[in-house]
Amino acid sequence: SAIQRNYHEKVIDHFEKPRNVGSLNTKAKNVGTGLVGAPACGDVMKLQIEVDEDGKTIQKAVFKTFGCGSAIASSSYATEILHGMSLDDAAQIKNSDIASYLKLPPVKLHCSMLAEDAIKKAVEDYKSKQNTETPNN
Ligand code: FES
Ligand code: FES
Repeated sequence: SAIQRNYHEKVIDHFEKPRNVGSLNTKAKNVGTGLVGAPACGDVMKLQIEVDEDGKTIQKAVFKTFGCGSAIASSSYATEILHGMSLDDAAQIKNSDIASYLKLPPVKLHCSMLAEDAIKKAVEDYKSKQNTETPNN
């Protein structure tokens, strides 16, 4: 099909069987939420991380993406690699890491940028909560 000709099999795999689709409690103190949109195409991605009691290890990552196959694949792959990763390493993830794994074509690079931005925002959100009195529930 046209899809199989134009997209790498890893994109198709994550698009057909997205990993870790879901939502976590936005208000929980150990959860960080990144919500980003792509002005160019209107796609929206929500990526959330749940952090271990140690305050630095990501024990769970989930996403919901309203967007193209490459955006869904990028967020699905991102949640896979985030599991068990430290917050510091997560903040270093580059869209090029995601794009090269999925072999995204240049026109789809912004889809992986959405994932990088969502990860960074989720980490920032978690960190900003640690200075507040929000209950952990
Ligand atoms: Fe249509 Fe991203 S441009 S879904
Ligand atoms: Fe816009 Fe993929 S996120 S085309």
